[in-house]
Amino acid sequence: MDFQLKTLTVAQAAAEKSDVLIVLVGSAPLTTKDPLSVLAASARKAGDLPDKAGKLLTLYRPDDVVASRVVFAAIGDGKLASVRSGVTAAVNAVKAQGPKRVVVVFAQAADGTAVAGAVTAAADASYVYTTTKSKAEPRSIRHLTVGVADASGVNGAFNEARATVLGIELAKEWGNRPANHATPTLLGEAAKDLAKLPRIKCEVLGPKEVEKLGMGSFAAVAQGSAEPLRFIVLRYQGASKDQAPVVLVGKGITFDTGGVSLKPAAEMDEMKFDMCGAASVLGTFRALGDIQPAINVVGLIPSCENMNDGKAVKPGDVVTSMSGQTIEVLNTDAEGRLILCDALTYAKRFDPAAVIDIATLTGACVVALGGVRSGLFSSDETLASALEAAGEASQDRCWRLPLDDDYAEGLKSNFADVANIAGRAGGAITAAKFLQRFASDFPWAHLDIAGTAWKSGAAKGSTGRPVGLLVSYLTNRASSGAADTAAKAERKASSKASDAPARKARSAK
Ligand code: BES
Ligand code: MN
Ligand code: ZN
Repeated sequence: MDFQLKTLTVAQAAAEKSDVLIVLVGSAPLTTKDPLSVLAASARKAGDLPDKAGKLLTLYRPDDVVASRVVFAAIGDGKLASVRSGVTAAVNAVKAQGPKRVVVVFAQAADGTAVAGAVTAAADASYVYTTTKSKAEPRSIRHLTVGVADASGVNGAFNEARATVLGIELAKEWGNRPANHATPTLLGEAAKDLAKLPRIKCEVLGPKEVEKLGMGSFAAVAQGSAEPLRFIVLRYQGASKDQAPVVLVGKGITFDTGGVSLKPAAEMDEMKFDMCGAASVLGTFRALGDIQPAINVVGLIPSCENMNDGKAVKPGDVVTSMSGQTIEVLNTDAEGRLILCDALTYAKRFDPAAVIDIATLTGACVVALGGVRSGLFSSDETLASALEAAGEASQDRCWRLPLDDDYAEGLKSNFADVANIAGRAGGAITAAKFLQRFASDFPWAHLDIAGTAWKSGAAKGSTGRPVGLLVSYLTNRASSGAADTAAKAERKASSKASDAPARKARSAK
């Protein structure tokens, strides 16, 4: 699907070659006197087009319009969420007829955020998974033109949205692939493919290297599977080498049976989605390769299956993590934290500005927040607020949960430094408390996407979340980078001596 941005009035949009014309109608008065705008104004006055985002009114072959169908879609206040619901409703209403060319035109002034919302919502509503179907019908829409009164002012936002769609769709693709079509090895190859993009490098480690690094916790989860584990290291370099990177860590369990602590059969197929954190890291790098923001980013993906086997790790086994901390594996189904903890320890070598892990970590988070908001945990106020803001800005929302030390009480073990589970209560938080033990050396945040990464039921499928949030966070960070650099230079000047070791360590890499 390709996107195009054009300066178009509603009258000009009516003359564009297309199968469907979607006219987005906001609450503001419709001042232009072209036939479609006049029609929309009178429909609204008559109550046939209520001023509520997502309401639709469809016309067939109206005079002087090239498209055979015209859909008026209400977008209320014209803000991001409203534009998204208007465009989603309109695309859902027309997609069954298989339109190839669609024009979406704003009847009133629209800002960059609104344009971005039209792009991401149209892509989302028309997405179709095809890879493992023998007679798949791919998405019908080939070309989507977004028309606004003045395209020049919204070009940047449009391009970023288009890049974000590439990232979201890559994350959806890998999330949706069945586990036998998305093994750790295949994820490693997908990551290597990304290194064809400018400024991206990739390295993929296997079992021997992981053992050598001392990642005993990660290796323990992988040991019950015939599929060899992979540890993927992606780097995007958009800023000078000495700028500390943001590290993204994605949980890449390509299938989670629970291991010896076996999961019940019902809905176990959905555990193919247990690598959606990893997929969101791949998707974010896809977008970075396109947007090319001035920032450095590292992506770390520990990937393996969690299987039940003669060699599998058993409840009560004690494993030694890369950090040196020993862990009693009381429940082999709490495997996500076991692979993430070693990746967090590995992250330290990049002397990171921030580390964000993204994981389908707990059923408890699904109970707490459902499918609307991802769980956010952070030891750092600045990082937490920046992620919350990015979630709102992209409408890929999250909600902060607490990290009081009292929640770590239940993780005590008689046989190791820490246990991998606590009681049932506050399960999303105790999981985060476990991870926090491995993230004390840098500003850290954890996104529990167990409820948001995929949908169950008839619409079962990956959502591509939280690529939108992550891209928004990283691009914001890049554009405020100039201010950061100035502040850093000032700090450097005032405390040269104390700063030196960290910089030395960084440039040694
Ligand atoms: N991948 C699951 C979390 C999950 C479960 C996500 C259901 C989405 C839906 C994770 O590895 C897991 O099994 N967590 C356990 C932890 C428990 C054993 C402490 C859980 O949430 O039940
Ligand atoms: Mn599990
Ligand atoms: Zn899992």
